[in-house]
Amino acid sequence: MQKNIMEYNTVELDEEQNAVVIIDQTLLPGRTELIALKTAQEIWDAIYLLKVRGAPAIGVAAALGIYVLVRDMDTEDFEIFYGKFREYQEFLDSARPTAVNLSWALKRMERTALKAGREQKRSVAEVKEILHREALRIREEDIQVCRRIGENGLTLVKPGDGILTHCNAGQLATVKYGTATAPIYLGQERGYGFHVFADETRPLLQGARLTAYELHSSGVDVTLICDNMSASVMAQGLVQAVFVGCDRVAANGDTANKIGTSVVAAVAKYYGVPVYVCAPTSTIDMDTPTGKEIRIEQRPEHEVTEMWYRERMAPEGVKVYNPAFDVTDHELIAGIVTEYGIAAAPYTESLREIMEKRRQESETED
Ligand code: MRU
Repeated sequence: MQKNIMEYNTVELDEEQNAVVIIDQTLLPGRTELIALKTAQEIWDAIYLLKVRGAPAIGVAAALGIYVLVRDMDTEDFEIFYGKFREYQEFLDSARPTAVNLSWALKRMERTALKAGREQKRSVAEVKEILHREALRIREEDIQVCRRIGENGLTLVKPGDGILTHCNAGQLATVKYGTATAPIYLGQERGYGFHVFADETRPLLQGARLTAYELHSSGVDVTLICDNMSASVMAQGLVQAVFVGCDRVAANGDTANKIGTSVVAAVAKYYGVPVYVCAPTSTIDMDTPTGKEIRIEQRPEHEVTEMWYRERMAPEGVKVYNPAFDVTDHELIAGIVTEYGIAAAPYTESLREIMEKRRQESETED
Protein backbone atom coordinates (compact mmCIF):
# COMPACT_ATOMS: atom_id res chain seq x y z
CA MET A 1 0.00 0.00 0.00
CA GLN A 2 1.23 3.50 -0.77
CA LYS A 3 2.62 5.43 2.18
CA ASN A 4 0.92 8.65 3.26
CA ILE A 5 3.14 11.73 2.71
CA MET A 6 2.92 12.41 6.47
CA GLU A 7 4.75 9.14 7.16
CA TYR A 8 7.90 10.29 5.38
CA ASN A 9 10.70 12.23 7.01
CA THR A 10 11.18 15.65 5.42
CA VAL A 11 14.88 15.60 6.26
CA GLU A 12 17.00 13.01 8.06
CA LEU A 13 20.50 11.67 8.42
CA ASP A 14 21.45 8.40 6.75
CA GLU A 15 24.38 7.22 8.85
CA GLU A 16 25.30 4.31 6.59
CA GLN A 17 25.48 6.31 3.37
CA ASN A 18 26.74 9.41 5.24
CA ALA A 19 24.12 11.52 3.50
CA VAL A 20 21.28 13.91 4.20
CA VAL A 21 18.13 12.30 2.88
CA ILE A 22 15.25 14.57 1.87
CA ILE A 23 11.96 14.32 0.06
CA ASP A 24 12.44 16.14 -3.23
CA GLN A 25 9.65 18.68 -2.73
CA THR A 26 9.81 19.98 -6.29
CA LEU A 27 8.19 16.70 -7.41
CA LEU A 28 5.25 16.83 -5.00
CA PRO A 29 2.41 16.08 -5.03
CA GLY A 30 2.79 13.95 -8.16
CA ARG A 31 5.82 11.92 -7.15
CA THR A 32 7.40 11.11 -3.78
CA GLU A 33 11.11 10.60 -4.26
CA LEU A 34 13.77 10.54 -1.58
CA ILE A 35 17.18 11.83 -2.54
CA ALA A 36 20.52 11.40 -0.76
CA LEU A 37 22.74 14.49 -0.58
CA LYS A 38 26.41 13.78 -0.04
CA THR A 39 28.46 16.65 -1.43
CA ALA A 40 28.46 20.35 -0.58
CA GLN A 41 27.21 21.16 -4.08
CA GLU A 42 24.34 18.67 -3.78
CA ILE A 43 23.24 20.14 -0.45
CA TRP A 44 23.56 23.71 -1.74
CA ASP A 45 21.57 22.91 -4.90
CA ALA A 46 18.84 21.13 -2.93
CA ILE A 47 18.39 24.21 -0.74
CA TYR A 48 18.61 26.72 -3.59
CA LEU A 49 16.25 24.76 -5.85
CA LEU A 50 13.75 24.30 -2.97
CA LYS A 51 13.99 20.52 -3.00
CA VAL A 52 14.19 21.03 0.74
CA ARG A 53 12.58 24.29 1.82
CA GLY A 54 10.87 26.14 4.62
CA ALA A 55 13.02 27.95 7.19
CA PRO A 56 13.27 25.22 9.89
CA ALA A 57 13.84 22.38 7.39
CA ILE A 58 16.61 24.35 5.69
CA GLY A 59 18.30 24.83 9.07
CA VAL A 60 18.08 21.13 9.89
CA ALA A 61 19.36 20.16 6.42
CA ALA A 62 22.33 22.50 6.85
CA ALA A 63 23.17 21.18 10.34
CA LEU A 64 23.03 17.55 9.19
CA GLY A 65 24.75 18.56 5.95
CA ILE A 66 27.79 20.16 7.51
CA TYR A 67 28.24 17.11 9.74
CA VAL A 68 28.11 14.85 6.67
CA LEU A 69 30.70 17.03 4.93
CA VAL A 70 33.24 17.00 7.76
CA ARG A 71 32.69 13.44 8.98
CA ASP A 72 35.24 11.78 6.76
CA MET A 73 37.75 14.60 6.75
CA ASP A 74 41.25 13.20 7.12
CA THR A 75 43.13 15.32 9.66
CA GLU A 76 44.05 15.22 13.32
CA ASP A 77 44.69 18.96 13.44
CA PHE A 78 41.69 20.91 14.77
CA GLU A 79 42.68 24.18 13.06
CA ILE A 80 42.86 22.49 9.65
CA PHE A 81 39.53 20.81 10.40
CA TYR A 82 37.99 24.11 11.47
CA GLY A 83 39.30 25.95 8.38
CA LYS A 84 37.53 23.47 6.11
CA PHE A 85 34.41 23.54 8.33
CA ARG A 86 34.26 27.35 7.86
CA GLU A 87 34.54 26.97 4.07
CA TYR A 88 31.58 24.59 4.01
CA GLN A 89 29.67 26.81 6.42
CA GLU A 90 30.05 29.88 4.23
CA PHE A 91 29.16 27.96 1.11
CA LEU A 92 25.98 26.40 2.53
CA ASP A 93 24.99 29.70 4.12
CA SER A 94 25.04 31.37 0.69
CA ALA A 95 22.29 29.13 -0.70
CA ARG A 96 19.38 31.31 0.48
CA PRO A 97 19.62 34.65 2.29
CA THR A 98 16.24 35.37 3.90
CA ALA A 99 15.54 32.46 6.27
CA VAL A 100 17.73 33.14 9.29
CA ASN A 101 17.42 29.48 10.39
CA LEU A 102 20.05 28.56 7.81
CA SER A 103 22.79 30.73 9.31
CA TRP A 104 21.43 30.08 12.84
CA ALA A 105 21.89 26.31 12.52
CA LEU A 106 25.32 26.63 10.91
CA LYS A 107 26.49 29.08 13.58
CA ARG A 108 25.26 26.75 16.29
CA MET A 109 27.27 23.92 14.73
CA GLU A 110 30.30 26.23 14.48
CA ARG A 111 30.04 27.22 18.16
CA THR A 112 29.84 23.54 19.08
CA ALA A 113 32.97 22.77 17.06
CA LEU A 114 34.90 25.67 18.58
CA LYS A 115 33.90 24.84 22.13
CA ALA A 116 34.95 21.20 21.77
CA GLY A 117 38.05 21.74 19.65
CA ARG A 118 39.55 25.00 20.92
CA GLU A 119 38.24 25.39 24.45
CA GLN A 120 38.11 21.78 25.55
CA LYS A 121 40.99 20.64 23.31
CA ARG A 122 39.13 17.51 22.24
CA SER A 123 40.55 15.38 19.44
CA VAL A 124 39.14 15.86 15.94
CA ALA A 125 37.43 12.45 16.20
CA GLU A 126 35.66 13.61 19.37
CA VAL A 127 34.71 16.94 17.79
CA LYS A 128 33.12 15.05 14.92
CA GLU A 129 31.07 12.94 17.34
CA ILE A 130 29.99 16.03 19.27
CA LEU A 131 28.91 17.66 15.97
CA HIS A 132 27.03 14.49 15.11
CA ARG A 133 25.03 14.69 18.35
CA GLU A 134 24.42 18.42 17.94
CA ALA A 135 23.05 18.02 14.41
CA LEU A 136 20.67 15.29 15.58
CA ARG A 137 19.67 17.46 18.55
CA ILE A 138 18.81 20.37 16.23
CA ARG A 139 16.59 17.99 14.27
CA GLU A 140 14.91 16.55 17.37
CA GLU A 141 14.38 19.95 18.94
CA ASP A 142 12.48 21.08 15.87
CA ILE A 143 9.78 18.49 16.59
CA GLN A 144 9.33 19.64 20.21
CA VAL A 145 9.44 23.30 19.23
CA CYS A 146 6.76 22.90 16.57
CA ARG A 147 4.54 20.98 18.99
CA ARG A 148 4.86 23.76 21.54
CA ILE A 149 4.02 26.34 18.86
CA GLY A 150 0.98 24.23 18.08
CA GLU A 151 -0.17 24.18 21.72
CA ASN A 152 0.25 27.95 22.01
CA GLY A 153 -1.42 28.63 18.67
CA LEU A 154 -4.38 26.42 19.54
CA THR A 155 -5.32 28.80 22.37
CA LEU A 156 -6.07 31.48 19.75
CA VAL A 157 -8.82 29.64 17.91
CA LYS A 158 -11.93 27.62 18.70
CA PRO A 159 -13.54 24.49 17.30
CA GLY A 160 -15.11 24.99 13.89
CA ASP A 161 -13.07 28.09 13.02
CA GLY A 162 -11.97 28.94 9.51
CA ILE A 163 -8.20 29.37 9.20
CA LEU A 164 -6.36 30.77 6.21
CA THR A 165 -2.71 30.00 5.54
CA HIS A 166 -0.23 31.07 2.89
CA CYS A 167 2.67 29.13 1.35
CA ASN A 168 3.73 26.02 3.22
CA ALA A 169 4.71 26.33 6.85
CA GLY A 170 3.68 22.73 7.29
CA GLN A 171 5.31 19.45 8.19
CA LEU A 172 7.18 19.57 4.87
CA ALA A 173 8.81 22.83 5.99
CA THR A 174 9.93 21.35 9.32
CA VAL A 175 10.69 17.93 10.79
CA LYS A 176 7.14 17.40 12.11
CA TYR A 177 3.89 19.34 12.60
CA GLY A 178 5.02 22.52 10.82
CA THR A 179 4.69 25.92 12.44
CA ALA A 180 1.54 27.54 11.02
CA THR A 181 0.00 24.10 10.60
CA ALA A 182 0.93 22.87 14.10
CA PRO A 183 -2.23 24.31 15.73
CA ILE A 184 -4.24 22.82 12.88
CA TYR A 185 -2.74 19.32 13.34
CA LEU A 186 -3.14 19.44 17.13
CA GLY A 187 -6.73 20.66 16.63
CA GLN A 188 -7.29 17.79 14.24
CA GLU A 189 -6.05 15.30 16.88
CA ARG A 190 -8.56 16.82 19.33
CA GLY A 191 -11.54 17.00 16.99
CA TYR A 192 -11.64 20.79 16.53
CA GLY A 193 -13.01 20.50 12.98
CA PHE A 194 -11.23 23.49 11.48
CA HIS A 195 -11.94 24.64 7.93
CA VAL A 196 -8.66 25.60 6.35
CA PHE A 197 -8.14 27.77 3.27
CA ALA A 198 -4.76 27.27 1.59
CA ASP A 199 -3.52 29.99 -0.75
CA GLU A 200 -1.97 28.37 -3.81
CA THR A 201 1.05 30.70 -3.46
CA ARG A 202 2.38 31.88 -6.80
CA PRO A 203 4.87 31.49 -8.34
CA LEU A 204 6.12 28.20 -6.85
CA LEU A 205 2.77 26.88 -5.66
CA GLN A 206 3.85 25.71 -2.22
CA GLY A 207 0.26 26.18 -1.00
CA ALA A 208 -1.28 24.03 -3.71
CA ARG A 209 1.46 21.44 -4.08
CA LEU A 210 2.47 21.09 -0.44
CA THR A 211 0.03 22.59 2.10
CA ALA A 212 -3.14 21.38 0.41
CA TYR A 213 -1.43 18.01 -0.11
CA GLU A 214 -0.31 17.43 3.47
CA LEU A 215 -3.50 18.76 5.10
CA HIS A 216 -5.70 16.77 2.73
CA SER A 217 -3.60 13.63 3.35
CA SER A 218 -4.14 14.17 7.09
CA GLY A 219 -7.89 14.36 6.77
CA VAL A 220 -8.09 18.09 7.52
CA ASP A 221 -10.94 19.94 5.80
CA VAL A 222 -8.85 22.07 3.41
CA THR A 223 -9.97 24.20 0.50
CA LEU A 224 -7.45 25.42 -2.03
CA ILE A 225 -7.87 29.02 -3.22
CA CYS A 226 -5.91 31.19 -5.63
CA ASP A 227 -3.84 33.96 -4.08
CA ASN A 228 -6.33 36.60 -5.20
CA MET A 229 -9.27 34.98 -3.38
CA SER A 230 -8.42 35.71 0.24
CA ALA A 231 -10.53 38.88 0.34
CA SER A 232 -13.46 36.97 -1.07
CA VAL A 233 -13.43 34.30 1.65
CA MET A 234 -12.77 36.85 4.40
CA ALA A 235 -15.60 39.11 3.21
CA GLN A 236 -17.95 36.13 3.57
CA GLY A 237 -16.87 35.64 7.20
CA LEU A 238 -15.33 32.26 6.47
CA VAL A 239 -11.99 33.02 8.12
CA GLN A 240 -11.56 33.62 11.87
CA ALA A 241 -7.75 33.62 11.91
CA VAL A 242 -4.77 33.68 9.60
CA PHE A 243 -1.80 31.50 10.57
CA VAL A 244 1.39 31.93 8.56
CA GLY A 245 5.00 30.91 8.98
CA CYS A 246 8.02 33.11 8.85
CA ASP A 247 11.60 33.24 7.56
CA ARG A 248 12.91 36.01 9.79
CA VAL A 249 11.41 38.08 12.58
CA ALA A 250 13.09 41.47 13.09
CA ALA A 251 13.49 42.90 16.60
CA ASN A 252 10.51 45.25 16.10
CA GLY A 253 8.16 42.41 15.07
CA ASP A 254 8.27 42.97 11.30
CA THR A 255 8.33 39.53 9.69
CA ALA A 256 9.57 38.27 6.34
CA ASN A 257 7.58 35.40 4.88
CA LYS A 258 6.65 34.06 1.47
CA ILE A 259 5.76 36.71 -1.08
CA GLY A 260 2.08 37.60 -0.76
CA THR A 261 1.91 37.23 3.02
CA SER A 262 1.78 40.99 3.51
CA VAL A 263 -1.11 41.24 1.03
CA VAL A 264 -3.04 38.66 3.07
CA ALA A 265 -2.22 40.56 6.27
CA ALA A 266 -3.42 43.88 4.82
CA VAL A 267 -6.66 42.30 3.62
CA ALA A 268 -7.14 40.58 6.99
CA LYS A 269 -6.71 43.88 8.80
CA TYR A 270 -9.47 45.38 6.64
CA TYR A 271 -11.84 42.51 7.50
CA GLY A 272 -10.87 42.42 11.18
CA VAL A 273 -9.31 38.95 11.00
CA PRO A 274 -6.29 38.46 13.32
CA VAL A 275 -3.02 37.45 11.69
CA TYR A 276 -0.74 35.17 13.73
CA VAL A 277 2.82 34.55 12.65
CA CYS A 278 4.10 31.20 13.90
CA ALA A 279 7.85 31.15 14.37
CA PRO A 280 10.35 29.19 16.42
CA THR A 281 12.81 31.40 18.31
CA SER A 282 15.47 30.23 15.83
CA THR A 283 13.65 32.46 13.32
CA ILE A 284 13.85 35.56 15.54
CA ASP A 285 16.78 37.76 14.62
CA MET A 286 17.34 40.39 17.30
CA ASP A 287 20.32 41.71 15.31
CA THR A 288 18.00 42.91 12.56
CA PRO A 289 16.21 46.00 13.92
CA THR A 290 13.32 46.23 11.41
CA GLY A 291 11.97 44.55 8.30
CA LYS A 292 13.74 47.10 6.11
CA GLU A 293 17.09 45.49 6.92
CA ILE A 294 15.96 41.97 5.97
CA ARG A 295 17.59 40.82 2.77
CA ILE A 296 14.93 39.58 0.39
CA GLU A 297 15.90 36.80 -1.97
CA GLN A 298 15.32 37.51 -5.66
CA ARG A 299 14.59 34.45 -7.77
CA PRO A 300 14.89 33.73 -11.50
CA GLU A 301 12.36 35.08 -14.02
CA HIS A 302 11.40 31.69 -15.44
CA GLU A 303 9.68 30.80 -12.14
CA VAL A 304 7.07 33.43 -13.01
CA THR A 305 6.89 33.11 -16.78
CA GLU A 306 7.01 29.37 -17.40
CA MET A 307 7.65 27.12 -14.45
CA TRP A 308 4.59 24.90 -13.76
CA TYR A 309 2.94 26.00 -17.04
CA ARG A 310 2.82 23.69 -20.04
CA GLU A 311 4.21 26.53 -22.13
CA ARG A 312 5.55 30.00 -21.49
CA MET A 313 2.73 32.29 -20.30
CA ALA A 314 4.34 35.70 -20.77
CA PRO A 315 5.76 37.54 -23.77
CA GLU A 316 9.45 36.96 -24.46
CA GLY A 317 11.54 39.81 -23.16
CA VAL A 318 8.97 41.19 -20.68
CA LYS A 319 10.42 42.51 -17.44
CA VAL A 320 9.81 40.24 -14.46
CA TYR A 321 10.11 40.98 -10.74
CA ASN A 322 10.34 37.87 -8.56
CA PRO A 323 11.08 38.50 -4.89
CA ALA A 324 10.66 35.27 -2.91
CA PHE A 325 9.50 37.03 0.28
CA ASP A 326 7.88 40.19 1.53
CA VAL A 327 7.84 41.91 4.87
CA THR A 328 4.65 42.15 6.89
CA ASP A 329 4.63 45.26 9.03
CA HIS A 330 4.34 44.46 12.73
CA GLU A 331 1.22 46.65 12.92
CA LEU A 332 -0.62 44.07 10.83
CA ILE A 333 0.31 41.20 13.15
CA ALA A 334 -1.90 40.25 16.11
CA GLY A 335 0.68 37.92 17.65
CA ILE A 336 3.90 36.03 17.03
CA VAL A 337 3.46 32.46 18.24
CA THR A 338 6.69 30.88 19.48
CA GLU A 339 7.57 27.83 21.53
CA TYR A 340 8.01 30.13 24.56
CA GLY A 341 4.63 31.81 24.29
CA ILE A 342 2.87 34.41 22.18
CA ALA A 343 4.55 37.78 21.65
CA ALA A 344 2.19 40.74 21.25
CA ALA A 345 2.72 44.47 20.64
CA PRO A 346 4.91 46.22 21.63
CA TYR A 347 7.10 43.59 19.99
CA THR A 348 10.43 45.16 20.87
CA GLU A 349 9.69 44.27 24.49
CA SER A 350 7.75 41.04 24.09
CA LEU A 351 10.32 39.50 21.71
CA ARG A 352 13.12 40.45 24.10
CA GLU A 353 11.26 38.66 26.91
CA ILE A 354 10.74 35.56 24.74
CA MET A 355 14.44 35.46 23.83
CA GLU A 356 15.34 35.85 27.50
CA LYS A 357 13.18 32.81 28.33
CA ARG A 358 15.06 30.85 25.68
CA ARG A 359 18.42 31.97 27.08
CA GLN A 360 17.42 30.89 30.59
CA GLU A 361 16.18 27.52 29.39
CA SER A 362 19.36 26.81 27.41
CA GLU A 363 21.47 27.82 30.43
CA THR A 364 19.73 25.30 32.65
CA GLU A 365 20.27 22.63 29.96
CA ASP A 366 24.05 23.28 29.70
O1 MRU B 1 10.59 29.67 -0.41
P1 MRU B 1 10.11 28.74 0.67
O2 MRU B 1 9.17 27.71 0.16
O3 MRU B 1 11.26 28.16 1.43
O4 MRU B 1 9.32 29.68 1.65
C1 MRU B 1 8.81 29.14 2.82
C2 MRU B 1 8.04 30.10 3.65
O5 MRU B 1 7.89 31.25 3.34
C3 MRU B 1 7.55 29.57 4.96
O6 MRU B 1 6.36 30.19 5.33
C4 MRU B 1 8.60 29.82 6.06
O7 MRU B 1 9.87 29.37 5.66
C5 MRU B 1 8.24 29.18 7.34
S1 MRU B 1 8.26 27.42 7.23
C6 MRU B 1 7.82 26.81 8.76
